[in-house]
Amino acid sequence: MSSLLFQTQSFLVVGLLIYGVTKRKHKFLHMKIMKTAILWDLLLVAQIELTRSAIEKASKVTSNAMILNIHVSLAISTVLLYFIVYYFGNKLAKGDESVRKYHKPIGILTLTVRIATLITSNLI
Ligand code: HEM
Repeated sequence: MSSLLFQTQSFLVVGLLIYGVTKRKHKFLHMKIMKTAILWDLLLVAQIELTRSAIEKASKVTSNAMILNIHVSLAISTVLLYFIVYYFGNKLAKGDESVRKYHKPIGILTLTVRIATLITSNLI
């Protein structure tokens, strides 16, 4: 039951991130959507961790160990990338156009890694 709840939230977060990217030309709307999606995703990680102790499970399970390791690595990378994309996004919002060349590729990478996290979560 809780697994379905997590999966549904995960799909919605990815959907919200994609929607937010389509609104990238609308500065304030883009920022609001991305901040909401990132916060929601971090809360989702907390929910999973608190109810299923994912890290403990990850360290004990031996079947599908490889895909599990890939999934956990992707999930951790997503969180790190969120901080980086947020940092450059805030600078861009303050008018520092020099970081646009970083925010754009890192944003695309973040979304790609997040989608890969979703896909691998279904393969474990
Ligand atoms: C996964 C999260 C995010 C992704 C995938 C993403 C992606 C993008 C992309 C592709 C652009 C267009 C860049 C261009 O065409 O030059 C953009 C613009 C922008 N983003 Fe993000 N972004 C994310 C999060 C954020 C966050 C958290 C903030 C603010 C805190 C932010 C602030 C901005 C700003 C200010 C712009 C420029 C809008 C404009 O041109 O008026 N982004 N973003």
